[in-house]
Amino acid sequence: MKNYFITATDTDAGKTLVASSLTAALVSTGKKVAVYKPISAGCENIDGKLVNGDALALQQQANSEQSIEQINPIAYEEPIAPHIAALKHNKSITCDLISKGFTQIQSLNADITITEGAGGWRLPLGNGEYLSEFVKQQNLNVILVVHMKLGCLNHAILTYESIINDGLKVIAWVANFPEEMPYLEENIDYLQSAITAPLIAKIDKVNSIDQAVEKIDLSWL
Ligand SMILES: Nc1ncnc2c1ncn2[C@@H]1O[C@H](COP(=O)(O)OP(=O)(O)OP(=O)(O)O)[C@@H](O)[C@H]1O
Ligand SMILES: [Mg+2]
Repeated sequence: MKNYFITATDTDAGKTLVASSLTAALVSTGKKVAVYKPISAGCENIDGKLVNGDALALQQQANSEQSIEQINPIAYEEPIAPHIAALKHNKSITCDLISKGFTQIQSLNADITITEGAGGWRLPLGNGEYLSEFVKQQNLNVILVVHMKLGCLNHAILTYESIINDGLKVIAWVANFPEEMPYLEENIDYLQSAITAPLIAKIDKVNSIDQAVEKIDLSWL
């Protein structure tokens, strides 16, 4: 089984767009794909059930018949840092809890599991833990989404270095540019020289998942 963890330079950088279009692309090649969005903060309360938009987007593209609760076991309504949301509800988020959910998903025997992170690489869970420690526990290969905008070179390089220093592999990266950026190609070129992993997609502003799917080069995965 192949397992990928999608992280990004920041929140709102395009993780869900990339995770869901990658899932759709892999499903279209005949693979069984399972998805995981362990933590979300920012949910709709539907009849007392917390439903996260990212989890829904991933569920729509995957083909492993997973419930929203399985895809997103740790959900908070308020769009705030998850460890603060957990504290407010007298709960705690731990790596062990996140790994438990991951083990459940692995029992589905999918060919590929795509896990979307939350925020950026060093997302605090509280009690001194970080989401990156779960990625390390499970030894997941990382796909880094870079939101191309001024300041992204610093964010991308710091994130890349952190992942490598954690002993993990960045298997691919994606340049996501929904907004215009002056000297975009020069910035992408710089990152290609700094990141020793293939650039598998350059995604400009898209209007649908299908449009994003067309831009992904799966040959590296
Ligand atoms: N290339 C793109 N074209 C059009 N819209 C985009 C593109 N990339 C991102 N967006 C939009 O920007 C918003 C943020 O993207 P997305 O939800 O994928 O980010 P994220 O990293 O998953 O955020 P979060 O940290 O909240 O999970 C969404 O509304 C998404 O549809
Ligand atoms: Mg998201």
